[in-house]
Amino acid sequence: MAKQLTVKFERMLQSQGFGSRRYCRQLIESGRVSVNGSKQTDPQRELVSENLQFTVDGTRWQYRDKVYLLLHKPIDYECSRNPQHYPSVLSLLPPQLQERGVQCVGRLDADTTGLLLLTDDGPWLHQLTHPKHHVPKRYLITLKHPCDESQLQALHEGVLLHGETEPCRAKNLEVRGERLLAMSIEQGKYHQVKRMLAAAGNRVEALHREQFGKLTLGDLAPGEWCYLDDAQTTLAEALE
Ligand code: URA
Repeated sequence: MAKQLTVKFERMLQSQGFGSRRYCRQLIESGRVSVNGSKQTDPQRELVSENLQFTVDGTRWQYRDKVYLLLHKPIDYECSRNPQHYPSVLSLLPPQLQERGVQCVGRLDADTTGLLLLTDDGPWLHQLTHPKHHVPKRYLITLKHPCDESQLQALHEGVLLHGETEPCRAKNLEVRGERLLAMSIEQGKYHQVKRMLAAAGNRVEALHREQFGKLTLGDLAPGEWCYLDDAQTTLAEALE
């Protein structure tokens, strides 16, 4: 039988973003934490981490070794820990997740909305953002000018962006309206979609990411987020 993984109570609480070890010890000793339904006050107790649930001041949490999140990024939020002009997307998350060091998987511009992944799993983040993995990201693009055939052709065949050596191609280009396009890109260069549309002779008025790999936003409203539980499966699917 596989050995069950255990974790010391105060360390477990610290790993989930509840503050320093000392502070977590105090939380436990003052009776504010329950584990799997019963109050536990010994901070040194070893707990089985699998399916571990706990409450802090009555709020329920599931123990997670790593967290994988899907957020519907609203307009006027920055994908940065140190935002310059707007609040950080991290401010949309509970403080415990911020404390865990969650980072954005790639960035969306402040005026771009839509699907954003976040995680505290460094290797996972690296795999998803590494150019060799070619994870397609799909965008819905509202244009300033009606899109004509020559622009579509340029996007399809590839446009050379300033400072780049290889042309960037739009995949699965779809015309959804006179000034509405959907397209996928596999790289994540700085302002890539906006620069591609500018290079094709148009201008992006609004940009929304609707898909990352196979992941979509589902019913999430702007500002809402959810855990991606089975993240390994999700990763495999995203990379397909
Ligand atoms: N391309 C852009 O130009 N901006 C984004 O936010 C994402 C892709």
